[in-house]
Amino acid sequence: MDKLVINGGSRLFGTISVSGSKNAVLPIMAATLIEPGLYQLENVPDLKDTRTMIRLLEMIGAKVEFANNKLLIDSRKCNNPIAPYDLVKTMRASFYVLGPLLSRFKEATVSLPGGCAWGPRPVDYHLKALEEMGGKVSLDYGNIVIKGDLKGSRIKFKKISVGATGNVIMAAVKAKGTTEIQNASMEPEIANLVTFLNDLGADIVSYPESNVYIINGVKKLLSSSTCKIIPDRIEAGTYMIAVAFVGGEVTVRNVCFNHLKDVIDKIRLSGADVSILKSDKESNDSLIIKSSDQIAPVDMSTSEYPGFPTDLQAQWMALMTLCSGDACIVDNIYKDRFTHIAELKRFGAKISLNENKALVTGVDELQPAPVMSTDIRASASLVIAALKANGKSEISRIYHLDRGYENIVDKLNSIGANIKRVDD
Ligand code: UD1
Repeated sequence: MDKLVINGGSRLFGTISVSGSKNAVLPIMAATLIEPGLYQLENVPDLKDTRTMIRLLEMIGAKVEFANNKLLIDSRKCNNPIAPYDLVKTMRASFYVLGPLLSRFKEATVSLPGGCAWGPRPVDYHLKALEEMGGKVSLDYGNIVIKGDLKGSRIKFKKISVGATGNVIMAAVKAKGTTEIQNASMEPEIANLVTFLNDLGADIVSYPESNVYIINGVKKLLSSSTCKIIPDRIEAGTYMIAVAFVGGEVTVRNVCFNHLKDVIDKIRLSGADVSILKSDKESNDSLIIKSSDQIAPVDMSTSEYPGFPTDLQAQWMALMTLCSGDACIVDNIYKDRFTHIAELKRFGAKISLNENKALVTGVDELQPAPVMSTDIRASASLVIAALKANGKSEISRIYHLDRGYENIVDKLNSIGANIKRVDD
């Protein structure tokens, strides 16, 4: 198993480019199953999770080619509406095939995802909604089996769920009648899915102010299209926070400024300077981030889009470890998502946790340490901390990083980091 050896202490200068969004491409890949056809996806990040979804589509019967961040999916001969435990246990987002398979085959068998490193992550909203649309749900040897010819329905989620919104949208595009989803996710990744489906002839209307989608079922979608995946706002935010923390001045290319407004506001409050280099309708933005000598304490609470994403909570905590005071960090989306605290403390961070509220008291410096990754974003926070700590740190179990960050070692080294990937 590989580990990272990081010689921290160097400031970061240069240009770094952000890849396509992991959380956008995964549901869009699943959506190619709805209508037998030929699809081309561009700006696709080459990640372990993308590869897992490719394997799943192939098991279902699709032909897939992936090279140079371009993905060609031929879903015409799919005939096996099953997502087995082996794949679902390594990537929960495999659950995204449920809605598309049900739409196309009127039945689907998808292994029930277990919990994850930071606690239980239920799928009850997905199942309740699909039942309300007429699906008959049963459990068979750890697998969810759903059968039925779906009909439009009015769905109201108790809490906003990205995955359940995506699954229900995909199940509803060809269902009979109209589906209304209330308290739905308006995350940019779901908007990317909606654009893909509408370009294929779906009839989905979004009401972002009221968190509602209206989906009028259509008989057929087009059987080919091209879709460009949006930039990964979490990867972009990770690199911006890294520069604010480690120090330096870096241009972050291929960013969507609008997707990161809340994060940028908070980074500016912490003292760093963020400016937009270029922005036009056709291409994505470039941002210049310049660190300041002192990091001001900035409280942060995660919330659904457009709020501060839970996927940047661990990285924000790393930034606050050296702030000039106390910062309170609250995770309202995943109340147990704090496995990184024990590891950040190994660098000398001072953090106390009370339920879902962490209090970070800034210290003068971090010391190098051997630490262990526990999930994708926690791993990113450890990389950020190790880049700052003067001397040699080691991060083990980095397969988590490979799930969500394309070429992270090369990208960070190209702006002055000193990171080696070695066999453990
Ligand atoms: C997605 C993202 C993940 C991100 C999360 C929150 C992908 C592949 N993953 O995960 O990176 O951290 O959104 O922004 O896009 N919930 C239920 N029952 C359900 C579904 C969700 O109680 O059936 C709860 C969850 O426990 C959580 C909240 O709803 O507290 C939000 O979860 P959700 O948005 O569904 O997360 P994912 O889609 O799994």
